[in-house]
Amino acid sequence: MSIISTDISKAVTILSNDELVAIPTETVYGLAGNIFSEKAIKRIFETKKRPFFNPLIVHIPSVELLPTIVRYIPEKAQLLADAFWPGPVTLVLPKNSNIPDLITAGKDTVAVRIPNHPVALELLNALNFPLAAPSANPFGSISPTTAQHVNDYFKNDIKMVLEGGPCERGIESTIIGFNGDEPIIYRLGSTSIEAIEAIVGPIEIKNKKEIAPDAPGMLDRHYAPKTETILVDNLSEAIKNHSDKRIGILAINTSSEHEAIAFQIILSEATDLQEAASKLYDALHQLDKQDLDLIIAERFPDVGLGKSINDRLQRATVKA
Ligand code: TXA
Ligand code: MG
Repeated sequence: MSIISTDISKAVTILSNDELVAIPTETVYGLAGNIFSEKAIKRIFETKKRPFFNPLIVHIPSVELLPTIVRYIPEKAQLLADAFWPGPVTLVLPKNSNIPDLITAGKDTVAVRIPNHPVALELLNALNFPLAAPSANPFGSISPTTAQHVNDYFKNDIKMVLEGGPCERGIESTIIGFNGDEPIIYRLGSTSIEAIEAIVGPIEIKNKKEIAPDAPGMLDRHYAPKTETILVDNLSEAIKNHSDKRIGILAINTSSEHEAIAFQIILSEATDLQEAASKLYDALHQLDKQDLDLIIAERFPDVGLGKSINDRLQRATVKA
């Protein structure tokens, strides 16, 4: 049975009833609930099996609502909001006292963004509360970029996935925090470092794993298929080294030939990084279904969105 539906008014009813709906955004599908409903927020953590120390992103429909969520907006945060919203930039700012501790994992800051997706915006505009929405996948596994991916994960746990088509950007938002008034990148994502630096100048990057990280999405293993996955610079050499296995290939732009290859996906024949990003998670979902011994992923050039794609592939390769 499928829980996928295009009915926005049904989503409004379910969400207003303290229950969850998976929603489309331009980056990935989110598992959404009313930020002011303790019941809904607890359900989000429970459904994802996500630890409570990992805070959630608040989604709002317009920049005018930002002062209802945060108590201070540094000048560079305003510049970033003006440049990228609606869009895949999340700002971490000092929270207003009405934002529940469950959302922020007890932190004094809250993550907030305006998604750039017509269905998400129509839904947010129809509600009189913002939505907390982490990616709609079990903790640590591959993020969903289609309604079907979410249905496959959660059809027994939630009532509805709001259909919004495949996600155009395909990788999560770039998360930006502040040290005083200076921005810091906490998580690489769908907005490139270069695009952000064009607005605010050179920026510090703290996109690494730590035990108690500033952005706990930075935990080591994340975005990971169940199949063992490796990330390599030289595909043909890696294929040769693993020719005794049933191999799946995730390639940038060209296909390989070898009898050990059981399945392969080319992310962008034109080497268009945005096209590759939009297909990345669906490719990992597909590869993970092929009963392979090993997935070999090809490392991207370390520029623009290539950096974000490599970041996700790197985390997908960490062993459980
Ligand atoms: O594109 C996206 O950002 C998607 C869509 C659904 O909007 N959402 C998403 O949420 O990726 P999630 O929960 O999978 O990742 C949110 C990240 C987590 O790594 C969390 O640690 C970080 O945001 N975060 C949230 N609040 C924070 C805070 N106050 N300080 C630092 N990091 C925070
Ligand atoms: Mg996530």
